[in-house]
Amino acid sequence: MSVVRLSGIEIGYTEVGQGSAVVLLHGFPLNRSMWRDQMQELSVAHRVIMPDLRGHGETVVSSAQATMEEMAGDVARLLDHLKIEQIVLGGLSLGGYVAFAFYRLFPNRVRALVLADTRPQADSEEARRNREVMRERALQQGIDTIADAMLPKLLAPATLAKDFETVTRVREMIVGTKPEGAAAALGGMAARRDQSDLLSEIASPTLIIVGSEDSVTPPGDAELMHRKIPNSHLEIIEGAGHLSNIERPVEFNRALTDFINTFEL
Ligand code: MLT
Repeated sequence: MSVVRLSGIEIGYTEVGQGSAVVLLHGFPLNRSMWRDQMQELSVAHRVIMPDLRGHGETVVSSAQATMEEMAGDVARLLDHLKIEQIVLGGLSLGGYVAFAFYRLFPNRVRALVLADTRPQADSEEARRNREVMRERALQQGIDTIADAMLPKLLAPATLAKDFETVTRVREMIVGTKPEGAAAALGGMAARRDQSDLLSEIASPTLIIVGSEDSVTPPGDAELMHRKIPNSHLEIIEGAGHLSNIERPVEFNRALTDFINTFEL
């Protein structure tokens, strides 16, 4: 685990394993530790890099808003620092929004894309208003209120009811996020551009993963991406909610390694 200062921002990241590089970008308002199970599996044959995005984990920000493009720029600077040119780039939810921004900025660096529980569309007016309410709540009442509001959305009902360890782990990740960091990311997500026009131009092989019970970015969004992205494969993980990599790590990892093996062999 390391922290590096690049362009005035301290970026926390974990790097493990050797081989071709795989970069994994976490969701909101979590941190790089959400990739624990993927790290173990992938690092057997790959160099796995997991940064904390601006405002999360050890990557803090002082600005009121952290855009998807700034987060993508941080990832590119980290790769330059590590002397890595091309990557398999995976992102879940917020991480997927950042992966789209990264692809638009640096398409030649992306060998393959993994878009998990995410969507290309910008926020609706209603979603923007909700983000503003959450921003105020985070800053005035603290991050615990965000955890209470988000847990039932992030996890499938069965996970929430029966998987105490996962609920505790996700709650701890959320409450470890600084209110200012969450507020900055909420502002950035509300302001993010619609990436729908990019889909048909994505030339890299793409794996799309979604939990069958994802209510934040539902399977319909994943199906739309699959229809529009030319060289894409869709994997629906039964019983998982929005955090499919945490709720169903075995199935998620199988989809990920099968996909990577198709173009690495
Ligand atoms: C996430 O999991 O990153 C967020 O739920 C995404 C969002 O709020 O749009």
